Amino acid sequence: MIRPVALLGLLLAPAFAPAADLHLPPLLDTVGKVHRVGEGPGTKVTVVLFLNPSCPLCQRYAPTLNKLANGRDKTVEFYGVVAHPSVTFAEAAKYAKEYKFTFPVLFDGSAAMAVALKPTAVPEAFVLDDAGQVRYRGRIDDWYERPGKPRDKATTHDLKDAVAAVLAGQAPAVAKTEPIGCLFEDELPKADTAPAKPTFTRHIAPLLFARCAHCHREGEVAPFPLLSYTDAKKHARQTVRVVTDGTMPPWKATRGYGHFLDENHLTKAEIATLKAWADAGTPEGDPADLPVAPTFHAGWQLGKPDLILKMPEPFQVPAGGKDIIRNFVIPIDVPEGKMVKAFEFRPGNRKVVHHALCFLDISGQGRQWDAHDDGPGYGSTKGGIGILPSGSLGGWAPGTTPRWLPEGVGRPLMKGSDAILQIHYHPSGKDETDQSEVGVYFDKTPGVKPLGGFSVENWAIDMPAGEREYKLKGEYTLPVNTTVVGVAPHMHLLGKTMKAWAETPDGKTVPLIDVKEWDFNWQDEYLYRQPVRLPKGTKVKMESVHDNSTSNPANPNSPPKRITWGEGTADEMSLCIFEAHCDTATDILRLVIDNATKNKVVERFGEPPPWARKKK
Ligand code: HEC
Repeated sequence: MIRPVALLGLLLAPAFAPAADLHLPPLLDTVGKVHRVGEGPGTKVTVVLFLNPSCPLCQRYAPTLNKLANGRDKTVEFYGVVAHPSVTFAEAAKYAKEYKFTFPVLFDGSAAMAVALKPTAVPEAFVLDDAGQVRYRGRIDDWYERPGKPRDKATTHDLKDAVAAVLAGQAPAVAKTEPIGCLFEDELPKADTAPAKPTFTRHIAPLLFARCAHCHREGEVAPFPLLSYTDAKKHARQTVRVVTDGTMPPWKATRGYGHFLDENHLTKAEIATLKAWADAGTPEGDPADLPVAPTFHAGWQLGKPDLILKMPEPFQVPAGGKDIIRNFVIPIDVPEGKMVKAFEFRPGNRKVVHHALCFLDISGQGRQWDAHDDGPGYGSTKGGIGILPSGSLGGWAPGTTPRWLPEGVGRPLMKGSDAILQIHYHPSGKDETDQSEVGVYFDKTPGVKPLGGFSVENWAIDMPAGEREYKLKGEYTLPVNTTVVGVAPHMHLLGKTMKAWAETPDGKTVPLIDVKEWDFNWQDEYLYRQPVRLPKGTKVKMESVHDNSTSNPANPNSPPKRITWGEGTADEMSLCIFEAHCDTATDILRLVIDNATKNKVVERFGEPPPWARKKK
């Protein structure tokens, strides 16, 4: 039913660099902000510095570190990390404040970052490249010959030089030096296991705050908050159950098959920690270990938008009944064509807004549909937007983080377009109203490349009633060099699994996405941590499996019926949509037109968008 022409994207980076297999967990800093290390927009280099508040060198180096952090390039992320099991959160917070660090100091309560990077002393710096590989580890500089023996001033600047080298795409002259300072004396937990005596304040709270609280808080999509000891204790055993069977957190892409932004998998160690804590009777722990709870500011996450598109009037969502998919037409008043750099959706009522997609329409057809339907917006018999969109601004599902597009690329927005905001409503049990809005941010720099997309599809669907393992395959050969920034698998209620990969002309296989437990309600756009560059001639392949038997609880038909291809939610679809850009504007047009032709889009959906038609 949903057919986004273009999807979200982020981070422009070199081709085929092997992505990280290090698990660097999202961590809270000492003032309650969650950081996903290395995932900022356009980040090329990440510095992680292990510190211990009581180590004299970690104190004396404060001005040097602040100077390094303040003078860094904007594509460099810089963090301090306090990971010693013997140091409390309160001590870490006091230290960050007293030494006036100008960079975030992260509190690694479970020492997961330390288990991944294995520091041997503090301060010890790690420099990671955009693929998450460690390119340098060791001292900051040679100011100290050894502890207690400072030179007049440093004669080497190992950390600074390593950052500059990696930023320039080179290997640092020295990859490893001996860190000078206090030995990392605390014992670390073993990889994949729980720490000895997990407590709420030290181990569980940081996990819930960083992984769950953005959905499990007041007014958000999840049914209860997970922000206090009482909350966590109340749901401790249910939590173990849902994290063990993989239902929570709801992240469907298989770990390691493609690397994505905002990945929210729990590690074996994290699951073991939740279990050990529940088994031990949910001990609360030392209050000094409790991190500051994350703050979620209510306003626009990306700052003041250049343009706000608001549903013209509120929409009434009844207390009960089926889910509603409604399309709202919002005219966009721009004096000329624009390139859109970011999109942020703000649900008007989080209790009922299940997910949203924002399409563009230059044909004026959406307005006609709207005029013919009573009430705000229009429904569509098939569950789609009823027309072939001329573009898209992006999508939203609970828990998604609004993101800037990679530097130098944008979504084209033509003068005279309307936005068609498609919202999927989930009745809440009482009458509700919603008036959602969208913030749009323009890229004002000239020469921005347009993002487009392609999809790999199979529409030859004829699924016998009762078939448990109905397999479909799709394949598309790229006509031009293409850089893929995001992927959105799409099936309907009978979908079970979808996997996509690319086979390059020189014989490499590039994993793109693997969803093993498809859930129609948790469809997502997955943004590659590093865009994937695929040369011309690459075959992009897709395989999906569908279950049309009674053992599929989502099957809308009981008894099952024969099902064919169609846009309605009760029909079935199998497509994997990719958002991409090309080296030139001509190439992206070639890609979009070639893909639409191969996929028989005109025959199946109607006219192509005018911008594609004009250039033919
Ligand atoms: C993207 C949003 C999101 C995130 C992130 C998330 N949850 Fe949930 N959670 C939900 C929603 C929505 C439900 C209700 C599901 C339903 O009713 O089917 C839920 C339900 C639950 C339940 C009750 C399950 C049941 O069936 O009774 C538990 C326990 C839970 N979540 C724990 C967690 C934990 C622990 C985390 C973090 C590790 C987490 N969730 C992360 C959205 C989220």
